[in-house]
Amino acid sequence: MDEPTPKELFLQSVSRCVGIEAFIPSFYDRFLASSEEIRAKFRFTDFEKQNKMLARSLELCACATAGEAESLAEINERATTHNRDHMNIEPRLYDTWLDSIVETASEFDDEWTDAIEAAWRRILGHVVQRMVRKY
Ligand code: HEM
Repeated sequence: MDEPTPKELFLQSVSRCVGIEAFIPSFYDRFLASSEEIRAKFRFTDFEKQNKMLARSLELCACATAGEAESLAEINERATTHNRDHMNIEPRLYDTWLDSIVETASEFDDEWTDAIEAAWRRILGHVVQRMVRKY
C-alpha cells in the first residue's frame, strides 16, 4: 500500500482530535493565554460558534492546500475578513496561531508522530502564507 499523503495524515489526525470535545476549547485556552493582544481580538466572540467554525476551517485548509477551487475561494474570503482593513490580524499572530494549534494537537492525538506534525505544519503553513500575503 502507498504511504499516506500529508493531506491524509493531517485529516486523520484532525478527526482524532476533533473527536475529543475538549480539543478546540483547549486550543483557544492556549491561544488566548499567549497574549493580551490576542485576548482583545476575541473579546466579543461567541465561543460556541467559534469552536464549530474552527473544526470546519481545519478541513477547509486541507482542501485548499490540495488546490480545490471552492476551498481556495473561501480562504481568500477569510483572508479579506482578517486583513488590515477588517479584523487587522497582523502576520506575526499567525505564527502563534500555528504553534498553538500544533502543540494542542500533539497533546490530543494519541497517534502523533513527526510525520503528522510535518503534515499539520505544511498544510496550515500553506494557508497561513496565503492569508498573510493578503494582509
Ligand atoms: C489560517 C489561520 C486562520 C483561519 C483559517 C481562520 C478562520 C476564521 C474563520 C473561518 C472565521 C469566521 C468567519 C470570519 O469572521 O471570517 C474567523 C474569525 C475570526 N478569527 Fe480567524 N482564522 C485564522 C487565523 C486567525 C488568527 C491568527 C487570529 C488572531 C487573533 C484570528 C482571529 C479571528 C477573530 C478575532 C475572528 C472573529 C471571531 C468573532 O466572531 O468574534 N484568526 N477566523
